Amino acid sequence: MDGKQETIKKRYNRVARIYDILEYPMETGFSKWREELLNQADGKTLEVGIGTGKNIPYYPEQVELTGIDFSPGMIEMAKKKVKDKGNVHLQVMDAENMEFEDNSFDTVVTSCVFCSVPDPVQGLKEIRRVCKKEGKILMLEHVRSNHKVIGKMMDIVNPLPLHIYGANINRRTFDNLLKAGFDSRNIQVNDLWFDIVKKIIISN
Ligand SMILES: C[S@@+](CC[C@H](N)C(=O)[O-])C[C@H]1O[C@@H](n2cnc3c(N)ncnc32)[C@H](O)[C@@H]1O
Repeated sequence: MDGKQETIKKRYNRVARIYDILEYPMETGFSKWREELLNQADGKTLEVGIGTGKNIPYYPEQVELTGIDFSPGMIEMAKKKVKDKGNVHLQVMDAENMEFEDNSFDTVVTSCVFCSVPDPVQGLKEIRRVCKKEGKILMLEHVRSNHKVIGKMMDIVNPLPLHIYGANINRRTFDNLLKAGFDSRNIQVNDLWFDIVKKIIISN
């Protein structure tokens, strides 16, 4: 792990215990979007950057879930939400260098993760690799707005959330998907909140 990754990991470890409280105001909107997205998960499912496990309650019962995160602090918090769920397995692992075989998962999920992954293109390449060829990738991500003024403001404000959490608010995730080798014809994007919060569904 390089210095940049260590810095972001430390920031998430630092906020892990209070993360759910800090994010609480946003969950009114997000909980609804999480539920809608995760209804579509099936089979062997990987959640990348599972954080404190906010998505765990929304997965259908039959899903066999593996959740990874490079922050041990966040994984510890997620474990509290798992309790007796035998179908959920949590591991500390780097999304940019996953230990899984190629074509391992039917579904791969990310929510609010590609704002933080230090090398997003490498993380997305890894997702493409571990997702089965007929598999699907379900993403709920906030991105930089294309609006001239709002996008510029997001660039200016970005150092603040980056310093506190390790999250960027000005990531161009659609462009990063193309850089990672995904075909735009297989990517379906829906705006959920202005052009900032997006639901992205990819057929691998
Ligand atoms: C903003 S939080 C979102 C957590 C969760 N997905 C949610 O919806 O609440 C981003 C998470 O991505 C994790 N993360 C960032 N880069 C990562 C990487 N390279 N490998 C694994 N996890 C990573 C962070 O540790 C953090 O838990």
